[in-house]
Amino acid sequence: TDLDRFIAGLLKAELHLHIEGSLEPELMFALAERNGVTIPYASVEDVRAAYAFSNLQDFLDIYYAGASVLLTEADFHDLAMAYFDRAAADGVRHAEIMFDPQTHTDRGIAFAAVIEGLLSAMAEAEAKHGLTSALILSFLRHLSEEAAFETLAMAEPWLDRIAAVGLDSSEIGHPPSKFARVFAAARAKGLKLVAHAGEEGPPAYVYEALDLLHVDRIDHGNRALEDEALVQRLAGEGMTLTVCPLSNHKLCVVGDLADHPIDHMLAEGLKATINSDDPAYFGGYVADNYRAVARARGLSREALVQLARNSFTGSFLPPEAVAMHL
Ligand code: ADE
Ligand code: ZN
Repeated sequence: TDLDRFIAGLLKAELHLHIEGSLEPELMFALAERNGVTIPYASVEDVRAAYAFSNLQDFLDIYYAGASVLLTEADFHDLAMAYFDRAAADGVRHAEIMFDPQTHTDRGIAFAAVIEGLLSAMAEAEAKHGLTSALILSFLRHLSEEAAFETLAMAEPWLDRIAAVGLDSSEIGHPPSKFARVFAAARAKGLKLVAHAGEEGPPAYVYEALDLLHVDRIDHGNRALEDEALVQRLAGEGMTLTVCPLSNHKLCVVGDLADHPIDHMLAEGLKATINSDDPAYFGGYVADNYRAVARARGLSREALVQLARNSFTGSFLPPEAVAMHL
């Protein structure tokens, strides 16, 4: 349709993408075979059938299990290259991708294998598609502050190749305050800061991300809408929210996509963007997210253009590069 073509042609940045969440079942099987790893599924259909979640934790249990097929630098390269090929086809010109080193280093995989595999795919994506990218090292918030510090120390030799640190995994019970010191250390090293907040957690966690972590972006932020003063503050500060419509639906953050608040966010003056989060698990890449929420909410072309613009102005690209994309 016209809308599909319009969305595919809209140049965009993707700011909220977990590279481990782009592991398609077909690649999961191929890597399991290549590496002699056993997975608890009989077929690709069997894997897809297991992707029915009632909350974030349901999903995380399956997502961490799926990552067990990733062992070598080549695996991380192939994973990221599959994502970049798919993103380029969706009109993505720049991607800021999160990776969860602890999911791998805790299984005995070298940090170097993870990051070198990702970096070589990033260089290849730029050469092949002209798609630029940046890395966001995400700490798993269900693990300790000490473990986050150890992960930051492991990353030290690659700090000039890492744009930001992030905070993901099980939100409730693991408030941003738990990571205030490690975020301060990352900030002192010149890294940008992002954190998942207000996906399942309360508005108080969004305040903590702002006031205690000093984040440059909020990942999700849906529950900020429950607090009008917080909405005013986020809008006033021009804080970017990396919103993920299909994820929100699959993880029951919204009951129905028809009730998704993306247009309310824009109407409130919030700098919202559209992203895929974990596309292999939630049924779509970034253009699928634009299409699904555009249909469900009847978004105007102006709104879609605004969302795509926000993705560049909310990125960590230098101002000259942002200007080039607008
Ligand atoms: N890790 C991968 N996807 C996530 C999400 N949507 N929320 C928290 N942690 C995640
Ligand atoms: Zn996420």
